[in-house]
Amino acid sequence: MQKKINNIVHKINTYLYRYFFKQKKTELIKPMLYGLLPGGKKVRSKILFDVGSIFNLDKKKIIQVAAAVECIHAYSLIHDDLPCMDNDNLRRGKLTTHKKFSESTAILAGNSLLTIAFQILSEKRLNLSDQKKIKLINLLAESSGHAGIAGGQFLDLSYEKIKKNKKQILDMQIKKTGKLFSFCCLAPVIMSGQTKYFNRLMKIGNEIGLLFQISDDLIDLRGKTSKAGKKTKKDLKMGKATLISLLGTDNTIKYAENLKLKIFKNLRIFGNRSRDFKETVNYILERTK
Ligand code: IPE
Ligand code: IPE
Ligand code: MG
Ligand code: MG
Ligand code: MG
Repeated sequence: MQKKINNIVHKINTYLYRYFFKQKKTELIKPMLYGLLPGGKKVRSKILFDVGSIFNLDKKKIIQVAAAVECIHAYSLIHDDLPCMDNDNLRRGKLTTHKKFSESTAILAGNSLLTIAFQILSEKRLNLSDQKKIKLINLLAESSGHAGIAGGQFLDLSYEKIKKNKKQILDMQIKKTGKLFSFCCLAPVIMSGQTKYFNRLMKIGNEIGLLFQISDDLIDLRGKTSKAGKKTKKDLKMGKATLISLLGTDNTIKYAENLKLKIFKNLRIFGNRSRDFKETVNYILERTK
């Protein structure tokens, strides 16, 4: 598993370095690359590869879409760490972008990573029909904005130190984390044109995103800063509304186990072709960083 992920990390990093090398030389390139590379588990990219292999897609195209996703993800982390959000100094084992550079630079580098994702998806050399590219861009925009990451982050912050019910917490976590995972499950459906699987993969995507956020919250609770590469034991202090704060640790783990079984059940129709995907789901639940 780790070998497969390392292989993906290498491919995406190489693609992104080359892409940035071809950009106009500006002052923001350095902080953008700092927040983007290296580091990062590239789990979203792994999911793209896993679903891509279910639909027999060309890996070269998957790498380009994954590069766009990693840019959006890196932007969301840079902004998540800002003093006006989670106020963190450590990310991926190094200083956060605003600590290394400045707050305004981090905001602008984040903005630029967000927009460069759409630049990547609209490149001529992404060998897909314009219609498919527009669909990808449309879905990625939806997953990142007010109904996705940004909207979820808004809720995450406004729920601090307030008791929220399960439905509200799930809605917040699906938006802030689930929607981008959902995009990773749906992009290969769009690219292959096999749209009859759209709803099934949207559901799987939301659930795997939720599972990922639950395991992130468990790492915050039980993990070590040195291993996670970011400050742990913060959610309780900040009064974050999580499933752990609502249900307790044991019930949250049970909830996650159930979620995993639900995802496996939904994957059944793909038979052996979903083997890599299942391996990734197990990894998400068992990971310690
Ligand atoms: C952390 O994401 C933020 C969440 C959505 C929970 P990752 O754990 O994927 O961060 P990196 O990319 O590996 O640093
Ligand atoms: C962040 O959630 C989710 C994003 C969309 C960035 P967290 O705030 O829990 O992520 P970490 O723990 O700082 O990585
Ligand atoms: Mg946060
Ligand atoms: Mg955070
Ligand atoms: Mg966290």
